[in-house]
Amino acid sequence: MKNYLSINDIDSLQKLVEEAKKSKKNPKADIKLGTNKTIGLLFFNNSLRTRLSTHKAAINLGMEVIVMNFGNEGWALEYEDGTIMNKGTSEHIKEAAQVVSQYCDIIGIRAFAELTDKEKDEAEVVLNGFKKYASVPIVNMESSVGHPLQGLADAITIEENKTKKRPKVVLSWAPHPKALPHAVANSFVEMMQLQDAEFVITHPIGYELNPEITKGTKIEYNQEKALENADFVSVKNWSNYSDYGKILNQDTNWMITKEKLGAAKFMHCLPVRRNVVVSDDVLDSDQSLVIEQANNRTYAAQIVLKKILKNLE
Ligand code: CP
Repeated sequence: MKNYLSINDIDSLQKLVEEAKKSKKNPKADIKLGTNKTIGLLFFNNSLRTRLSTHKAAINLGMEVIVMNFGNEGWALEYEDGTIMNKGTSEHIKEAAQVVSQYCDIIGIRAFAELTDKEKDEAEVVLNGFKKYASVPIVNMESSVGHPLQGLADAITIEENKTKKRPKVVLSWAPHPKALPHAVANSFVEMMQLQDAEFVITHPIGYELNPEITKGTKIEYNQEKALENADFVSVKNWSNYSDYGKILNQDTNWMITKEKLGAAKFMHCLPVRRNVVVSDDVLDSDQSLVIEQANNRTYAAQIVLKKILKNLE
């Protein structure tokens, strides 16, 4: 693997999940692979799980780790070519990416969508800027459009918990007081498109994700109907895609409750707003997989870093 920018960088999801499960059983088995290698984790936005699990994965592979909260502590970067930089930006991505490449063998980037300009968000200026000008591999730790480390962790979690060959998996929209990006939902959809599963997306009318990502995936606007006989229910809020970044619906009826969940397992990437997105009794029940999903973030990151390190040999 050269870079891990999206779910599309995975050759065989099934094989990668199996290898991740193996690493989970013996996390330090490849501790020599990362000797004398450094990963730089650059955060333009907040994080708990991504920061600690990717750091842990690198430790398990014997790597050195440098972390920088770029959003608060770095120079404001310029991404446009040919700009007269006499305004707010202090350093061009051309220099920044080349400089970081001298210190690191792999660079992880977290840079969320700003949700004000669809075209700009979809251009992925931060992630693609580093990809263009860095001389080392890039790992997407959640960008404007995707969160492929989360998608891979979710694939591991489903594989570990499924009780039938072809489970029914539902991605359900849920209410949220803030406008949130589409990245987690997008990568979940892309990951599910590689799975042998009955996959359904449910959301209020008007909350369609990018059709170039959902392609022919079934959408059921009636949440109750979508949840019938589900084995896994993955829940996420996202803001409107067509009326980009707007909140058009705060319908509390879309919150996931124990009654709606039935016998299904509950999934969420975290952080989650209790009793807004999902009720306490779901999160506190043994049907909730959220803590295991977060645990699997380490093994998702570890298998990705392992593949990249192998490619550097
Ligand atoms: N799920 C996830 O990416 O968590 P963080 O935002 O805390 O990293």
